[in-house]
Amino acid sequence: MRSGDRTPDDPWHFPRPELADAYLQAFELKLSAARGLFARRRMGKTEFLRQDLIPAALDRGYLTAYTNLWDRRTSPEIALVSALNEALEPKGAAAVLSRLRAPVKKLKAGAKLPGGIEGTLEAELGKAGADRTSALHEVLKQLDGAKKTLLLVIDEAQVLARADHGDFAHALRAALDIRKDRIKVIFAGSSETTLRAMFARASEPFYNWAPLEPFPLLGDEFVAYSIRLLNSMARNKLTLEQGLRAFEALHRTPEFFKRFIERYMLYQTQGDTAALVHTKASVFSDEHSLQQWQEIKASDRAILYLIARGEPDLHAAATLEKLGAMLGKPATRNTAAHALRRLMADNVVTRLSMGDYRIEDEAFAEWIRRRPAPSVSD
Ligand SMILES: Nc1ncnc2c1ncn2[C@@H]1O[C@H](COP(=O)(O)OP(=O)(O)O)[C@@H](O)[C@H]1O
Ligand SMILES: [Mg+2]
Repeated sequence: MRSGDRTPDDPWHFPRPELADAYLQAFELKLSAARGLFARRRMGKTEFLRQDLIPAALDRGYLTAYTNLWDRRTSPEIALVSALNEALEPKGAAAVLSRLRAPVKKLKAGAKLPGGIEGTLEAELGKAGADRTSALHEVLKQLDGAKKTLLLVIDEAQVLARADHGDFAHALRAALDIRKDRIKVIFAGSSETTLRAMFARASEPFYNWAPLEPFPLLGDEFVAYSIRLLNSMARNKLTLEQGLRAFEALHRTPEFFKRFIERYMLYQTQGDTAALVHTKASVFSDEHSLQQWQEIKASDRAILYLIARGEPDLHAAATLEKLGAMLGKPATRNTAAHALRRLMADNVVTRLSMGDYRIEDEAFAEWIRRRPAPSVSD
């Protein structure tokens, strides 16, 4: 069975079997054993990886392991080892656990397996002093015994770029490098800057490991698919043009478009314009933006405001003057540089090229555009 023939659990999921095949094919042609892909948040990376790529890999006979490091920012090592462990047969997983618990004792062949091992590897690794690097080696050793190729998907992989995970990241790279033939890795991430730094800096563990490419975004075909499905259920049909108009107005963001569709379904008689107005208001003005805004420093807010408004040169004298006016005190090139450094470290802002910055979260950017300039009294 091919993934494209599956009856999806979620009828609203627009399947992308060709894209999934393209990634797997590149692995099978041995063009590369690792790929890095990036796109902004809410563009459909995770949904593609979980609902298209992994099922397609399973259909082709791969073992698969998936982990989203953003959910596990504080312990990406545990998340990774656990994900790999889940790809193992129960027997292999049990062996890993006993090795960790009794590192000196040799596990006898055919020894009785400890009962109730579910979830306990995570608990074991969470203990203070647990050696996660040796756990990684144990799990990979078990995987060496499996005949199948493994697809390891690391979502929001930029978390690994943080310096405090450096040793583990080096170990991971080395361990996966010698298994290139049998372990294929997909790195996905929302922050292009951090991913680029991971793969492009000679001092980084992932230097030159994976080519980094933009993730192909969902476009008009996704809209057409959603509109067709909507029309099969709705009393008041929408035209493709109406759908495309909404998609554009929502900055071609699949997540927001889905919210528009949902709103329209529930309030069809109010029409598509009303549904669009409602969707824009709810996604571009949510409380989350306000909270995020209030949590950052005044100078960072002012810089964000300038970026959101498309200020061309953040270090120009005229811009620094605007910055100073917002802050109520003179701003220097350092003020701007420090704010930018903080915003990039927190993945709020990405540098596209020299001097060209972008706010990662389009909803946040739009929210900022809609508010008045920050001022001293804020
Ligand atoms: N292939 C798809 N078909 C239908 N809806 C999608 C698809 N991909 C993404 N979406 C919508 O966009 C939302 C965000 O997608 P997600 O994969 O979580 O984005 P990302 O991982 O890039 O932040 C999903 O929850 C879903 O509503
Ligand atoms: Mg995601």
